[in-house]
Amino acid sequence: MSPFHLTRTLPEDATDAALRADVLAGLTGMPKTLPPKWFYDARGSELFERITDLDEYYPTRAEREILVGRAGEIAAATGARTLVELGSGSSEKTRYLLDALTELRCYVPVDVSESALTQAGRALVAQRPGLDVHALIADFTEGLTLPRTAGPRLVAFLGGTVGNLLPAERAAFLSSVRELLSPGDALLLGTDLVKDERVLVRAYDDAAGVTAAFNKNVLSVINRELDADFDPAAFDHVALWNAEREWIEMRLRARAAQTVKVQGLDLAVDFAAGEELRTEVSAKFRKDGVRAELSAAGLDLTHWWTDGEGRFALSLSMVRRA
Ligand code: AVJ
Repeated sequence: MSPFHLTRTLPEDATDAALRADVLAGLTGMPKTLPPKWFYDARGSELFERITDLDEYYPTRAEREILVGRAGEIAAATGARTLVELGSGSSEKTRYLLDALTELRCYVPVDVSESALTQAGRALVAQRPGLDVHALIADFTEGLTLPRTAGPRLVAFLGGTVGNLLPAERAAFLSSVRELLSPGDALLLGTDLVKDERVLVRAYDDAAGVTAAFNKNVLSVINRELDADFDPAAFDHVALWNAEREWIEMRLRARAAQTVKVQGLDLAVDFAAGEELRTEVSAKFRKDGVRAELSAAGLDLTHWWTDGEGRFALSLSMVRRA
């Protein structure tokens, strides 16, 4: 059997149906919102890669620093034989884990992007003969079924992407991860931390305007996929710190009153001058909050590692025995 398998759990048209439902609900709701997962078409993914290279955007570098320093401890604490990576994308940071996990037999990257999975998966198979790569095309927020691979299993969800889920979505997500696992299995979770507001806002409103372009790209995605006529130049990029909820919000603010037609949904959407469309929440965490959210899902925090400047954390939690 080939060491590279690809399993599609998403119907070919599932993405389209989900986009339609999200855009309809989001643009007819009050206030208007869109879920951040629709940023990531080819151009959005490329813009996000550029964001990770910006001076202002520290999370990627901070998380890499932790992974480089702690991969050996992660391997020793988990003894993982299977690594499941949620939202693996290009699998760039995974290298440090793969190199350290000496017992590893199987790598299960999970992503909605087939092209990212195939590219990264095939490169890995070539570099690590003997490692089974079982790629899953799936939306991990919709409930997953994992292949029957060797335990212990380690699920990694890196990048701070858990912060893009709203609190209720996060609770449901963590419970569904717990349901995939057995006692002795572990979750490695990347979370950006609460810090000085100016540092946070700069990370989401960079001087070169890359994040602004990334934010507006979601309008181009809707134009293309749903035959809409958004003018990205008619909106301003807004990044603000919500101190009460401890999250960054990205919004798009209409520069003038306008009506946008979304032909694919047979919908006309009115924007008042200055009206804002929320496109992303990026929650920032504290150790006690992460511990409590994990615990509520049946996961016990066992390790907490931060970068040298205390900006970002990786936590390891283990499935609680019933
Ligand atoms: C997908 C969680 C890594 O919320 O920081 C970057 C996406 N949005 N700049 C984040 C993002 C704006 C990002 N993550």
